[in-house]
Amino acid sequence: MHTVIKGGTVVTASDTFVADVLIAGEQIVAVGQHLEGDRVIEAAGSYVIPGGIDVHTHLDMPFGGTVSSDDFFTGHRAAAFGGTTMHIDFAIQPRGATLRETLDLWQAKATGKAVLDYGFHLAITDLNERVLAELPQTSAYGVPSMKLFLAYKGVLQVDDATLFRAMQQAAQHQLLIMVHAENGDVIDLLVQAAVQAGNLAPKYHALTRPPELEAEATARAIRLAEVAGAPLYIVHLTNAGALEAVRLAHQRGLRDRIFAETCTQYFFFTKDDLDQADDSGAKWVCSPPFRTANDHAALWQGVADQSLQVVSTDHCPFWFAGGSDGKVPGKELGRASFAQIPNGCPGIEERLMLLYTHGVRTGRISLNRWVELCATNPAKLFGCYPRKGTVAPGADADLVVWEPNARRTLSAATLHQNTDYTLYEGWEVVGAPRTVLSRGRVLVDDGQWYGEAGTGQFIHRQPFGL
Ligand code: URP
Ligand code: ZN
Ligand code: ZN
Repeated sequence: MHTVIKGGTVVTASDTFVADVLIAGEQIVAVGQHLEGDRVIEAAGSYVIPGGIDVHTHLDMPFGGTVSSDDFFTGHRAAAFGGTTMHIDFAIQPRGATLRETLDLWQAKATGKAVLDYGFHLAITDLNERVLAELPQTSAYGVPSMKLFLAYKGVLQVDDATLFRAMQQAAQHQLLIMVHAENGDVIDLLVQAAVQAGNLAPKYHALTRPPELEAEATARAIRLAEVAGAPLYIVHLTNAGALEAVRLAHQRGLRDRIFAETCTQYFFFTKDDLDQADDSGAKWVCSPPFRTANDHAALWQGVADQSLQVVSTDHCPFWFAGGSDGKVPGKELGRASFAQIPNGCPGIEERLMLLYTHGVRTGRISLNRWVELCATNPAKLFGCYPRKGTVAPGADADLVVWEPNARRTLSAATLHQNTDYTLYEGWEVVGAPRTVLSRGRVLVDDGQWYGEAGTGQFIHRQPFGL
């Protein structure tokens, strides 16, 4: 069966042109004029873009005394409604587990539920000798990227020596090290002091994790990567100081080795959002925390001038009022103290719409850069390009027909994430997906869901740089 997407404006990271897109089975087989198929999806006046790829998500993740509230079905459904057709989730190594065991644990969470294609990064918490020896095999597992945390002391944090040893292995075996760059030791001291002083409101989450501690850890991780000769990807970068560290590395000639992402929410919220008159500030608690309007401007500049390569979501949803009616516990765990609030925010569904509305429509980024940040660069950096992340013959037919003038009002009541809030409640967006296909299957069309649990596939990714 052949499907043709007819007369749309195809947008890739480099080109914008009117064409038909012909799909046979799961793949794009032609992009050109006057193509015919058994099934026609009309797209005149719409954009046809590669499906979004979100390389930073946490589905069904045990964290903060509970578990994130989207699983591999609900999270995929929400992502698809927002135009994202692939994601890479973090498989968190339980202490003592091998990397293979860790991946098997996460694979079991996805099996039977996945609708989208997905991959994993490893999140390494326990780099003992056995795990160090196993690291080179991760390419054969199809998982050539791993995150290490310089924060969350006593939970996920590793020390500099551990990070450095992982980087040495990465340098030798074409692996990409990802770092959560905040100084966890100093944050721990500041949190303890705030708690002892009785400063327990959500706003103290941001005040005990100042931007300087992110800038310091970012610069430190970059310098360690330079010494080890390893490529490095800084996750969820939030502020001008950390961005400066990335820019300085690029000026030292490391543009092909030092990469950084920011996440949608860091363009929009400040530390003041945690300081609500009611107790709802917990909704905005994530790490690193929200910063200032000056940092928003710096991040927009960073995505425009290529200092930042990717915009992901760090989707890590919790219920605001969980723990009853079949809901897992959520943000209410931190009612007595900010230090107990599960860290993370929802956002897998809103990313493309917000970046289009506030990035493309305002002229901050071009249409092509939007595609590059949200799909093409993620595919290239994480070893699945050109199968994913572009519109071209031979690529998987992961496609979105995008209505540039569609107006939507974002609300938890109409979004599909398995949580009771969105940070963007009541925000209007202009530009939204109409039809979303994953390997040729229509998942969403005109607001209707057609996806089926269990049809998503694990994507075996290529080693870094191939
Ligand atoms: O607050 C956040 N970001 N939660 C998810 C874990 C992480 O650090 O990415
Ligand atoms: Zn992190
Ligand atoms: Zn994260």
